[in-house]
Amino acid sequence: MIGAVVFDAYGTLFDLASALRGEEQALGERGRQLGELWRRKQLEYTWVRSLAGQHADFWRVTGDSLDYALEALGLADAALRDRLLAAYRTLRPYPEVAGVLAALKAGGLRRAILSNGEPGMLQAAVEAGGLGGLLDAVLSVEAVGIFKPAPAVYALACRELGLGPEAIAFVSANGWDGYGAAAFGFRVFRVDRAGMPAERLPAGPEAVMPDLRPLPGLLLG
Ligand code: LAC
Repeated sequence: MIGAVVFDAYGTLFDLASALRGEEQALGERGRQLGELWRRKQLEYTWVRSLAGQHADFWRVTGDSLDYALEALGLADAALRDRLLAAYRTLRPYPEVAGVLAALKAGGLRRAILSNGEPGMLQAAVEAGGLGGLLDAVLSVEAVGIFKPAPAVYALACRELGLGPEAIAFVSANGWDGYGAAAFGFRVFRVDRAGMPAERLPAGPEAVMPDLRPLPGLLLG
């Protein structure tokens, strides 16, 4: 029986595109490229740092990857950097997030975040998004000092929630994160807003949803 629903944060609850809000007109097509390269490098740096045993927190990695992306696209500019990082701290939740969390709460399921984010940035986004009262726990990989998909990260959720992996529904928009969670033993529900192909990895989600709205129906029946 499911006892808790654990969510990835960035790209799952919080809309990464909202980091570029207000910059669209000035940046045009390069804004889209910047968003993509920033995210790709951010994730790459988490995996490289974890494999190399050189952890630094996600705020540092987010700034480093932004610096790379800005330089690669010929956009390096200190004021733009500051604005983008400020927007990243208060990314907007997707429009359905609060309603889905409220429905899961009403159905008696506990709700938590398990994220690469460091505690300060997670708290800032949760507060800015008005989600504080809808979450029982906000768990950061900083408690274990390694990034997803290291099994120690998923084990942190079990420990903090006092549940076995089979009692946790894990929700992520990141295929590789869903893989790590499924390999660990969680029940995985993938959000795929862009219609991407299934990952070619040896474990995966039991359901794929276009956004979070189907989740209460799937978990509460
Ligand atoms: C997170 C990243 C992976 O929130 O989206 O953990």
